[in-house]
Amino acid sequence: MSGRLVGVGVGPGDPELLTVKGLRVLREADEIFVPVADTGEVGRAEATVREYLEEGRIRRLLFALSDDTEARERNWTNAARKVSEHLQSGRTCAFATIGDPNVYSTFTYLARTVRELEPDVEVETVPGITALQDLASRSGTVLLEGDERLALLPFTAGEEPLRDALAGFETVVCYKGGSRLAEVLRVAEGGGRLEGAVYGARLGIEGEEIVSAQEMIGREGTYLSTVIFTRRSSELG
Ligand SMILES: C[S@@+](CC[C@H](N)C(=O)[O-])C[C@H]1O[C@@H](n2cnc3c(N)ncnc32)[C@H](O)[C@@H]1O
Repeated sequence: MSGRLVGVGVGPGDPELLTVKGLRVLREADEIFVPVADTGEVGRAEATVREYLEEGRIRRLLFALSDDTEARERNWTNAARKVSEHLQSGRTCAFATIGDPNVYSTFTYLARTVRELEPDVEVETVPGITALQDLASRSGTVLLEGDERLALLPFTAGEEPLRDALAGFETVVCYKGGSRLAEVLRVAEGGGRLEGAVYGARLGIEGEEIVSAQEMIGREGTYLSTVIFTRRSSELG
């Protein structure tokens, strides 16, 4: 008897951005899992869930952030095994993840590995508010109008995809720029897209920063940071 695995998006950081449905699904789940990085630091998903549920109900799954593919795969397999133990007895397991569970989320890897172990498991997701939506809202940035198009990409894909996106789309959102923020800004400047761009770091979390991307020239970015490039100038400031 295979249970149900639900990926619940808990928003980018501000606990108020967890949806009513997300909270209900977490409350009703038999088991609640959260990802924790190998740094041991309390993750963002866990911090959000802890605002509403007792700590004792939350189980941590270790996911490596390292570039070591083998270490990452080992962690996914171990995590999937732990979840599968509960699914085998027909339980409902919720996995809380930052932002949306279908956007660059550890949930995708977890669900894929769990399905290999438990082919009959039911997998569902509850959408969450993404960092890009939060940054647009907080910075007063209109993302799209009329026929405009949006490109979302991680800077880990490299400079070329960002250059192409900036040349071809009215709105471009760059995730995972982090430590390579200087390169992101240089590519944008080269494409004449720096004006009006906004940078948001640690949205909804202590140390949050929302500034124009131009202000970040010469400064370091952090892993939890997002840049939005638009054709219009943002209403920021
Ligand atoms: C692994 S992806 C997770 C995306 C997430 N599932 C979503 O739907 O937004 C991590 C990237 O999301 C962005 N991000 C997530 N949370 C953020 C936050 N609180 N503040 C700024 N950027 C954030 C950053 O670009 C970060 O590098």
